[in-house]
Amino acid sequence: MKTVVVLTGAGISSESGCNTFRDNNGLWRKYRVEEVASPVAWQRDPALVLDFYNERRKKLFEVEPNAGHLALVELEKKFNVQIITQNVDDLHERAGSSNVLHLHGELKKARSTVDPDLIYELDQWELKLGDKCEKGSQLRPHIVWFGEPVPMIEEAVKVAAKADLFVVVGTSMAVYPAAGLIGYVNDDVPKYYIDPNAFALSGITNLNIIKEKAGTGVPRLVKDLMKA
Ligand code: OAD
Repeated sequence: MKTVVVLTGAGISSESGCNTFRDNNGLWRKYRVEEVASPVAWQRDPALVLDFYNERRKKLFEVEPNAGHLALVELEKKFNVQIITQNVDDLHERAGSSNVLHLHGELKKARSTVDPDLIYELDQWELKLGDKCEKGSQLRPHIVWFGEPVPMIEEAVKVAAKADLFVVVGTSMAVYPAAGLIGYVNDDVPKYYIDPNAFALSGITNLNIIKEKAGTGVPRLVKDLMKA
């Protein structure tokens, strides 16, 4: 069975109703990253940081996977599909995808601030000041903030290097190390970049640019791959 590796970003969840970050109505147009998504922000104003993620989490409990997520599940009938997502939502899992690696953490999880191995599932949207881990420390969102290491990147590099086909969906390819993963894919492997604002990635060979939304572009590509 051939392996299809799919790198997804905020754009794949946009048609479900989740905000992207850098589009005109994106989150980083409304908030300053350093104020809500950095270790410094957490030190300075943890309540503000919790509120920011509580709002995202609340929304996540209201939205559903879209045709883009669902098409990637269909692809598993013929391929070993490995998803590497920059998204902190759980829409790939809820759609039914089997292999999902989260590079930037998960919104529906909280983590101890004294022991990074203590991770808890959240079954409701609100994480509050005073919510503590079993060792008595404040819980924080299980999110990779700016300036923090990306613990899953080594695993993601291994996955990318094994791709027989590589698909990028709904990401501005602006954030590293995630955007650099495509550089680990063999030169002769066919690559697809589905995004209304997709562009030629410098130094990347065999790249097919599909300037479409995920909700139509991904099902179309999946249909073609299932026939081929
Ligand atoms: P961005 O907001 O940077 O990019 C979103 C991309 O989605 C853009 O290229 C849009 O053109 C595209 N897009 C919008 N609607 C779409 C649709 N319906 N179908 C397909 N594509 C669509 O988001 P990311 O690239 O995911 O990190 O951002 C990467 C990281 O930066 C995020 O994981 C987050 C952010 O800061 C952290 O929070 C650590």
